[in-house]
Amino acid sequence: MDTLGTRRNRREVAGPAAGPGVSMAGRTPNGQPAAIFQILGYCDALHWRRKLRDMAQHRIPDGSEVYWDGEHYDLDSGMVPTEDLPFYLAAAKKARGPVLELACGTGRLTIPLAKAGIAITGLDVAGPMLARAREKAAKENVKVKFLRADARQLRLKGRFKLIFIAFNSMQHLHDRVSLEKLFAGVKKHLAPGGRFMFDVFNPDPRYLVRDTEELLPIGSYKDPRTGKDILVNERYSYDRAAQTSRITWHYKAGRRAAGTRKLNMRCFYPAELDALLHYNGLKILKKYGDFDRRPFTGESRKQILVCGKK
Ligand SMILES: C[S@@+](CC[C@H](N)C(=O)[O-])C[C@H]1O[C@@H](n2cnc3c(N)ncnc32)[C@H](O)[C@@H]1O
Repeated sequence: MDTLGTRRNRREVAGPAAGPGVSMAGRTPNGQPAAIFQILGYCDALHWRRKLRDMAQHRIPDGSEVYWDGEHYDLDSGMVPTEDLPFYLAAAKKARGPVLELACGTGRLTIPLAKAGIAITGLDVAGPMLARAREKAAKENVKVKFLRADARQLRLKGRFKLIFIAFNSMQHLHDRVSLEKLFAGVKKHLAPGGRFMFDVFNPDPRYLVRDTEELLPIGSYKDPRTGKDILVNERYSYDRAAQTSRITWHYKAGRRAAGTRKLNMRCFYPAELDALLHYNGLKILKKYGDFDRRPFTGESRKQILVCGKK
């Protein structure tokens, strides 16, 4: 059967429900497992321990699992925007100095910015996303420094004229302490007069009350290994206490279910976001509602902010 790519990935997409100790077959008359089944059980346990370790490695700090494979992420491009590139490129040119992209993923923005002559460093916490970014940069013969690190623990040598975090990535930081660490790191790494920019969703109450049982198709692409169609359906539930969208992507390879992956996205309400920045020593210089720089209003889909140090 076709699944999501490599054998490693095939192991990951099945759930631990079928793990060791599930089967009651192979018992001796006194109820003890036969030796062969004990050995198989041991191998099975090792296999599942390895599988769980692999899964844990591909989970980012907020528990999201959708960044397990950069190639699949890039192919599933139905959800990825294009209109943010000119916006961030213009900001990077205006900055006239080194640029740091936090949560750069597979280099969707980093690589074109580097190609345009920007001295950019890309940083991300997910190994598979960075591996893909490095591969793409090498293929395109572009020099970019990619670093694997958590955006909440910035300890870099240089200072930057622009630090940005695009495509809702800041919504992977859920709690106050994580955000305080991010903002402190950003302030420490901004050069004098430097800018901090990011975009997040403007939470829409109509979206947040979706039916939690509904499976919505959100994308499809060809499996890079088998060439067969992968369909992605989404199940959504909004955790009101944590202000977090809890999303599960259900992958289907052909007609067969091929596993699920979690995606958690913290919501930032407009006044709350402005206050967070204010109390963390960042001044809002501009707040846009879209990448054409229209002013932010209640109807805007996005909150796009340009900040400086207070
Ligand atoms: C929606 S993707 C965006 C990727 C890229 N910025 C783009 O626009 O295509 C979110 C990215 O945030 C990264 N990320 C999430 N939490 C992070 C953290 N604490 N530190 C660094 N990167 C993080 C993920 O690994 C993932 O690559």
